[in-house]
Amino acid sequence: MKKLTGPKIITPSVPGPKAQALFEKHVKNTPTGMSRVLPTFVAQGDGALFEDVDGNVFLDFGAGISVLNVGYSHPEVVQAVKEQADKFFHTMVNCVLYEQYTELASRLNDIAPISGEKKTLFLNSGAEANENAIKIARKYTKKTDVIVFSGAFHGRTLLTMSLTSKIKPYKLGFGPFAPGVHRIDFPYCYRCPWGQNKDTCNTFCATRLEEFFIEYAAPEDVAAVIIEPIQGEGGFILPPNEYLTELRKVCDKYGVILIADEIQTAMCRTGKMFACDDWPVKPDIITIAKSLGAGIPISAVIGKSEIMDAPQTGGIGGTFSGNPIAAAAALKVLEIMKRDNFESKARHIGEIVTARLTNLQEKYSVIGDVRGRGAMMAIEFVKDRNTKEPAKEIVDEIVKNCWKKGLLVLSSGARGNVIRFLMSLVISDDLLNEGFDIIDSVIAEVL
Ligand SMILES: Cc1ncc(COP(=O)(O)O)c(C=O)c1O
Repeated sequence: MKKLTGPKIITPSVPGPKAQALFEKHVKNTPTGMSRVLPTFVAQGDGALFEDVDGNVFLDFGAGISVLNVGYSHPEVVQAVKEQADKFFHTMVNCVLYEQYTELASRLNDIAPISGEKKTLFLNSGAEANENAIKIARKYTKKTDVIVFSGAFHGRTLLTMSLTSKIKPYKLGFGPFAPGVHRIDFPYCYRCPWGQNKDTCNTFCATRLEEFFIEYAAPEDVAAVIIEPIQGEGGFILPPNEYLTELRKVCDKYGVILIADEIQTAMCRTGKMFACDDWPVKPDIITIAKSLGAGIPISAVIGKSEIMDAPQTGGIGGTFSGNPIAAAAALKVLEIMKRDNFESKARHIGEIVTARLTNLQEKYSVIGDVRGRGAMMAIEFVKDRNTKEPAKEIVDEIVKNCWKKGLLVLSSGARGNVIRFLMSLVISDDLLNEGFDIIDSVIAEVL
């Protein structure tokens, strides 16, 4: 494999001719409902970079939406996958057990920030993990309902789509949705749903939790609350610590299971193995996926043993759950992350990114907010800092112009006016700075 050194566009336009031809074939053969953010085709990846079929090299600030925390095709993960593939691909763990599944469960139980004895169930996707977390919480509590948040993204299956917030594109025309889902406003300090100012509000949002149980959902019906420690699709929004403390208190009071959806935030992304490591309280269940298998599909539900043991034998699982190749990849990922201290890598990236973004905010008044934690940072664009009117058009322009210079960045947020940064944690300081130089020049051009 060729070593890639930095972003370089060699075709007169992006996508180049080969990618354009492939794109036409792709459009003809695959449904429009699947997004196609960057219309090019990868030939090879290397660390935080990839080369497309036309020989253009892109710096990837999206990392497959936080799947490639150890970079594209980490050589040790490749080796682990090859070794496992030589032995066996599949048994269906319900029929014949294998050590990799057990070992991975044991390692995750050791490190997950949940108190007491823990057990882990493996599945294939983030949505499937969240579905199972709700099934398990229902069975354990013998209750039915779920509380979710505005701005939430939990997946695209019927139940998880019902938990997800953004109507377009995630829900439009796909109803009716699963019943028993109650939505509460997320504590989004930059745009406080209760019109408060974060410097003076005394965490007013936390008082709404108890009220919610009085006004909207009977505690006798509610099995679980599911929350992202940092909202991903919602635009990288962090709830205040005092809010989480109150949330835990209310869940304890009413016998409600607190589920942390760490599909996007786990695996060192925020500077800790789990974003919940930074919480002032502990959840009962954590769901993870994305970077666990470094690109090989695998997800997990980790929870207190007594909760995880509630479902009857055969009630949870699936054909490919915890597939041996994915489990081998995940074991290697955990080993690499610990050995090479990926937590501190993410914090280091966070320091550089925060400095660069704060500088951009000082330069460009369209940047209303800079937020995030570790290597999960975002900037929110507004037309005016006082009115905070969202500036989606500017974001769309910036994203497209960045491609032309060989940088892949992604937008997010309910209003599409946020640019999120999720680079691989193996990125060098030089590449990181090169990426932000591109963004700086593109913002200047677009404005
Ligand atoms: C927080 C969160 N939950 C759930 C999901 C769904 O995961 P998947 O696409 O693997 O089903 C995602 C995917 O982006 C996510 O970010």
